[in-house]
Amino acid sequence: MGAGAPPPDVKAQGKKILVCVSGGIAAFKVVVVVRSFAEMGADVRVVMTRSAQHFVGAQTFAALSGNPVSTEMFGSGADVPHVELARGADLTIVAPATANAVAKMALGIADDLFSAVLLTVRSPVLLAPAMHTEMWEHPATRGNIATLEKHGVTLVGPSEGALSSGDSGAGRMSEPDEIVRAGLRALGRAEDLAGVRVLVTAGGTQEPIDPVRFVGNRSSGRMGFAIAREAAARRAKVTVVAGATSAEPPSGVELVQVATADEMRAAVLERAPECDVIVKAAAVADFKPEEAVERKLKKASGPPEITLVPTPDILAELGSRPGLRKARSILIGFAAETEPDPGRLGLLAEEKRRSKGADVIVANDVGSSDSGFGAATNRAVIAGPDGVTDVGLVTKMALASALIERISQLLKERRKL
Ligand code: CTP
Repeated sequence: MGAGAPPPDVKAQGKKILVCVSGGIAAFKVVVVVRSFAEMGADVRVVMTRSAQHFVGAQTFAALSGNPVSTEMFGSGADVPHVELARGADLTIVAPATANAVAKMALGIADDLFSAVLLTVRSPVLLAPAMHTEMWEHPATRGNIATLEKHGVTLVGPSEGALSSGDSGAGRMSEPDEIVRAGLRALGRAEDLAGVRVLVTAGGTQEPIDPVRFVGNRSSGRMGFAIAREAAARRAKVTVVAGATSAEPPSGVELVQVATADEMRAAVLERAPECDVIVKAAAVADFKPEEAVERKLKKASGPPEITLVPTPDILAELGSRPGLRKARSILIGFAAETEPDPGRLGLLAEEKRRSKGADVIVANDVGSSDSGFGAATNRAVIAGPDGVTDVGLVTKMALASALIERISQLLKERRKL
């Protein structure tokens, strides 16, 4: 299955979908999103900010959804519209999400109906940002998006392309069909990993040279954290064994902090017999100094000679000794490669899948600035027992979602065996 396709068994019929529209030109594209869900038989409610009404009239959304559109916090009646609208929603879509809307959501500001509803909802939230490139790239927005992802919000887009200002760049809202597909995936994923135990390793290991120096790598932990977040959002019981990281760890998961490859191995092997899924997203050092000296090496002693010895290959050990793991559990490894060609990347992934005894290998190109260590996006392929899928250049969150989708399918197939 491709990264964008919804699970085949997902139905929108009868689902309550809340569409929150803020003031951007892309609001006109949300008309198609509302119409698509209404045609699928969903009960679609639209909430608009005042500025959204400059772009699309409330009447349009009312006619397409078949429901009145809500715009004001206070009416003449005794009802509390934001609570009523938010309660019982199966899915909330924020589109377009302007920089202002994103900032208010991240801070929990509730000064109009739109923002009050978003502070009240407890359904999965899908966010389709739309703004100018400068606003999207501003550290304030980056921080707000990171906060929202930490809160479990799922991003769809933005993509690169023509913007209303006449220029082109990142910040263009995803196309309606992409938002609808992401919405269907979100609807179908609510509970599908309930009761499943998932262990994810993340970050890089640090192998000490002396008390203050180590052999390490550039891993931020972002990819592993995104997978953990996605699994937790689908109700899995998640443990993250993390080495050194610079990204924000997910909430709602058990976090086990380790430093070295040996510590990571011990933490993983201890938990492996109970886990249904093990994802080795960590960048584990392949070599470590033969011994770490106890006292800090002094400059006056001259350049030290450091002998490196191999670390244990945790993935290969788990792959080659099935007794270490729960029966029918799924083992996923990552392959960091400097290979931008998806065809050749797929071959390397398949080769590593066999050599390490893993069920699935996600191979990502770490050679370019938009993919791999520290980047927000990854160019990747997923090799599994049923072939190789080219995921393309996507956000780490989208790659995590494609991977978890694949894992969910594999779990279903294994349960049938
Ligand atoms: N891995 C591991 N233990 C190690 C080294 C790697 O468990 N000591 C795991 C990583 O977590 C990842 C996978 O192996 O899931 C692949 O890591 P990668 O660095 O791409 O491959 P290597 O086996 O180190 O081979 P090479 O670097 O030569 O391609």
